[in-house]
Amino acid sequence: MNFKNVGIVGLGSYVPERIVTNFDLEKMVDTSDEWIKSRTGIEERRFAAEDQATSDLAVEASKKALEKAGLTAEDIDFIILATGTPDYLIQSTACIVQEKLGAKNAAAFDLNAACSGFVYALTMGTALIKSNMYKRVLVIGTEVLSRVVDMQDRNTCVLFGDGAAAAVLAEVEPGYGIISQYLGAEGEDQETLRVPAGGTRKPITPEVLEERSNFLKMKGPEVFKFAVKALPKATISAMESGNVSVEDISMVFPHQANLRIIEAASKRIGIPVEKFYMNLNKFGNTSSASIGLALGEALDKGLVKKGDVIALTGFGAGLTYGSMIIKWAY
Ligand code: ACO
Repeated sequence: MNFKNVGIVGLGSYVPERIVTNFDLEKMVDTSDEWIKSRTGIEERRFAAEDQATSDLAVEASKKALEKAGLTAEDIDFIILATGTPDYLIQSTACIVQEKLGAKNAAAFDLNAACSGFVYALTMGTALIKSNMYKRVLVIGTEVLSRVVDMQDRNTCVLFGDGAAAAVLAEVEPGYGIISQYLGAEGEDQETLRVPAGGTRKPITPEVLEERSNFLKMKGPEVFKFAVKALPKATISAMESGNVSVEDISMVFPHQANLRIIEAASKRIGIPVEKFYMNLNKFGNTSSASIGLALGEALDKGLVKKGDVIALTGFGAGLTYGSMIIKWAY
């Protein structure tokens, strides 16, 4: 079988207008700008407007991605939407986006791999095109985390923000596109990072609302320990399977959770931290949107050019991790 070369041919991102600074959070919980900045690197984040849901952010990012790719919604034959914060428990957010975009020729489904979602979804989309099953796949990472974080819990509410990123995958010229990827999961860490209630295990009851277990709970230091091992493992494994050296990599786009995690990962991978693109200071942790948000910003600044070899790398709830190496195609 003749496998196709697949690459990103258009990328777009969107963040809501409302900026929430560390100083705004100081008024809500017992925290400080100094604590948040020194522990995480985050200075502000965006929160969706009351009438915006996850699909609305996804549609904005997708329109930009399609425009960059020079395609219309009808050219898309598959939509894979990564999110941990869907509009509804039943009915995929991907189907809502399909209707809002007018992508009437596309099959559509959601994928939940938390903050690794963008890399997981890109991997699935790449496989669909490589195997000649589909031609143009719209991959979206989109989150409204402000609706699932507990604004009374200082351990979590300072970390997260809302946003979306979308990428159009299609066949690209030989020698360019996705070189390799590595995905992993460690399901044994069951209580490190999750929203405990609101699913089928623990439906919403008055007790749930009382104990606030319908909001995100996280064991921060455990996630930290996992992340500083998982990011290097994913990145190095993807580089090895693509026969790519650390010197070949021009830039790394890590999941934007925490500056200290990224610094530690950079040392373990052996790629200088200056090559790790970061915008977490402005947007916080936007989970499955964060890698695409960072890549989109770097593209807009002209920092990624045709022929550059870049790495996308993430970790998240599940626990999950994943990395992808791409030779940029445009
Ligand atoms: N403001 C002030 N103090 C705080 C805050 C806050 N916002 N949050 C926690 N503290 C306090 C704690 O209560 C604790 O106080 P104590 O010592 O009196 O008990 C103290 O600060 C230290 O807490 P630690 O948790 O040990 O702080 P640490 O230096 O580990 O930083 C952090 C915490 C930032 C959460 C870090 O552990 C981290 O980044 N972990 C990874 C989190 C992450 O990446 N999550 C996203 C995963 S992606 C996904 O799938 C959603």
